Amino acid sequence: MAAGDFSDRDGLIWMDGEIIPWRDAKVHVLTHGLHYASSVFEGERAYDDNIFRMHDHSKRLIRSAELIDMQMTLTAEELDTAKREILEANKLTNAYIRPIAWRGSEQLGISAQATKTHVAIACWDWPSYFSPEAREKGISLQTSKWAAPMPNTATTASKAAGLYATHTMSKHSAEAKGYTDALMLDYRGYVAEATGANIFLVQDGVLRTPDPDCFLNGLTRQTVLSLAEELKIPTEICHIKPEELKNTQEVFLTGTAAEVTAVGKIDDLEFSVGPITRQLRDAYESLVRQR
Ligand SMILES: Cc1ncc(COP(=O)(O)O)c(C=O)c1O
Repeated sequence: MAAGDFSDRDGLIWMDGEIIPWRDAKVHVLTHGLHYASSVFEGERAYDDNIFRMHDHSKRLIRSAELIDMQMTLTAEELDTAKREILEANKLTNAYIRPIAWRGSEQLGISAQATKTHVAIACWDWPSYFSPEAREKGISLQTSKWAAPMPNTATTASKAAGLYATHTMSKHSAEAKGYTDALMLDYRGYVAEATGANIFLVQDGVLRTPDPDCFLNGLTRQTVLSLAEELKIPTEICHIKPEELKNTQEVFLTGTAAEVTAVGKIDDLEFSVGPITRQLRDAYESLVRQR
């Protein structure tokens, strides 16, 4: 067992309606989800015992399943209850929560009508996605050779496991060159997102973010757009060409795991951790802890 192996931890996991020991939460190798990527998941965070936008995450899990033609067995309310239960069972108040739904081993082949949808929810203590030092001076991104796909070639609005194969390859390639993460362009060549977070740019005082027409419209992205509106920061949702990064003063990422993380470098271009990034990062940090 490798050090840090996620199958070998203390704790409890919610699985198909039961709370079971962490190490017993297993699936068979002939699970449909494993062979054909029939799996969708969520990433959520609890702050001071409150799961931020919990119900929206539950609804998105159900929507992601629908988008890959998979029937969810639980309602959003039932998912909410299960998340609260597993957080409490693990005695966690600040945690990352990972619900996942997948087609089981009841049928194996491209067709999957006889499979059941299984659901598991794990949670663990996971303070920061990027290291505190990287967050302070801004993380670095390398532009990936992989593109966010055309919406009619993949279920781009879902948080489907199958979409992440190119994200992992992109992140590996970036890390091999010393970057923190990868910047994905879309199939048209516009700036899309990072491998697990959305992207925002500040150009001459205007906050700009790509239109999520072929990638996940993150809940954090939506929260940050509302915060920007409240703070009267002018905002534009638009297509952004990579050449425009030259005329950019600040860049940051948003995501449940990443929260609001400044970007200090994209390929050879450098950016400062500027006032709009700091203002939105602070506003986000206080919002998630508000009851
Ligand atoms: C590919 C991708 N884009 C964007 C996001 C940000 O989404 P959210 O803010 O809902 O966590 C995530 C994280 O879930 C992601 O995996």
